[in-house]
Amino acid sequence: MKIAIGNDHAGVDLKNAVMEHLEEAGYTIDDFGTQSTQRTHYPLFAEKVAGKVTSGEYDCGILICGTGVGVSIAANKFKGIRAAAVADATAARLVKQHNNANIICFGARIVGEELAYDIVDAYLGHEFEGGRHQERIDLITSIEEKGTCQ
Ligand code: RB5
Repeated sequence: MKIAIGNDHAGVDLKNAVMEHLEEAGYTIDDFGTQSTQRTHYPLFAEKVAGKVTSGEYDCGILICGTGVGVSIAANKFKGIRAAAVADATAARLVKQHNNANIICFGARIVGEELAYDIVDAYLGHEFEGGRHQERIDLITSIEEKGTCQ
């Protein structure tokens, strides 16, 4: 599994910790910045990671900003991206099992290192359940394509 990770200035330290945690667990994870704590703009990094996921080059993405919300809003502008901002491991598991989220987002000003590890482990350690959940994903896709579910 190939993972793309990105963040703004607020997320640098947590990104480094999460990368180390996932590399130790054997994942392949590539960093799309920023590596600097100098103030920048979270949509730039959401765009890089979302692009890598929609192109199929990476299986999924991780995005970190102050809250996790800004990067999720930006990433969700991409067709085919289901970016979920979470702040606990239960939601991280469910956004994979039910929503087939292909990017998980969280906030460095909201979650600490240990919780971030639990979040990525729960997300990466579960599979999409399909079935009735696929029908709902299909409805989301039809909103993307036609602007409506009907
Ligand atoms: C940056 O100060 C902050 O606004 C950003 O990291 C994020 O929280 C936005 O959603």
